[in-house]
Amino acid sequence: MKITLLPGDGIGPEIIDAAVEVLNAVAEKHGLAFAYDHQLIGGAAFDATGSPLPEATVKSALQADAVLLGAVGGPKWDDVAPALRPEKALLGIRKVLGLYCNLRPIRVSRFVSHLSPLKKERVENVDLLIVRELTGGIYFGAHKEAATDENGVESASDIEIYSRPEVERIARFAFEAAKGRRGKVTSIDKANVLASSRMWRKITAEVHQKFYPELELNNLYVDNCAMQLVLNPGQFDVVLTNNIFGDILSDEASVLAGSIGLLPSASLGDGTGMYEPIHGSAPDIAGLGTANPLGTILSAAMMLRYSLKQEEAAADVEAAVEKVLKKGFRTADLAGSGLTVVSTSEMGRLVAREIV
Ligand code: IPM
Ligand code: MG
Repeated sequence: MKITLLPGDGIGPEIIDAAVEVLNAVAEKHGLAFAYDHQLIGGAAFDATGSPLPEATVKSALQADAVLLGAVGGPKWDDVAPALRPEKALLGIRKVLGLYCNLRPIRVSRFVSHLSPLKKERVENVDLLIVRELTGGIYFGAHKEAATDENGVESASDIEIYSRPEVERIARFAFEAAKGRRGKVTSIDKANVLASSRMWRKITAEVHQKFYPELELNNLYVDNCAMQLVLNPGQFDVVLTNNIFGDILSDEASVLAGSIGLLPSASLGDGTGMYEPIHGSAPDIAGLGTANPLGTILSAAMMLRYSLKQEEAAADVEAAVEKVLKKGFRTADLAGSGLTVVSTSEMGRLVAREIV
């Protein structure tokens, strides 16, 4: 199985190395053969080649069975032209691979639930899945960079645009996901203000009526959703959102789990899938060996499940992570009294060792 590895920037290389250690243990146990192809992306690629998304990277990803990404970006590239920013590479690869669906599952392990900023009893039963549209909306609508008009007034704009097929396919994805869960979809919009949201709500209701009448559909305005996520996060099963609302709400929801370092994601389309932790490149701790690799390791588990169709191996990785947490091993972000603090690579090795 061909896996393209894109370590990227900041802590990216360290967390990818830890995930590879776990994948190698999985390969050994389940008799799988992984062929890794390391490629550049983001600031690292820009520094080496002048482009944040080199042709070789795109080629490797298109030919792979799956892509595992660390993180991109950092202050070093803050002044780079917009089209060459590291983040642009992420949007670019999502687009070329046609990854219109981003899955961000949020479950709270009982071993870390006390680290949540919310009261334990509020987060204990949290098990939600954010289904975020990933290749449309304001991220990909026309961007007009700041410019000064004849009156000397500076303005800039970004356009939020969705087509019917884009909304239909992501809505169907959310309902399909809900089927295997608690059967409840909450669709997020700002239909009281935005035309694009009114269409989103209308089409989601049609898809529901036509194909999934047995499931439950609720609509929530995005501002209300932001509030409900901290008031009563246990109410959510599948949360269906557009690109920008999903970006914002998934960061908010990530803190429920105690540390953003624990959360995985999958980006899916009709071809190769891409997997990455939901946190960023954390340049402040890059190279120190203190980053938490569990979000990346759990992303590798999602890769085994969705792209490589190795459900048993995926479940093994998830169980191994729980075992290591249960034994009291923690990276610095999860440290606490009575616990053993380990480095990024040690954490990778500990999880790998539980896979026997
Ligand atoms: C994410 C990130 C990206 C996004 C950035 C880095 C472009 O925040 O994956 O959530 O906004 O999609
Ligand atoms: Mg984000």
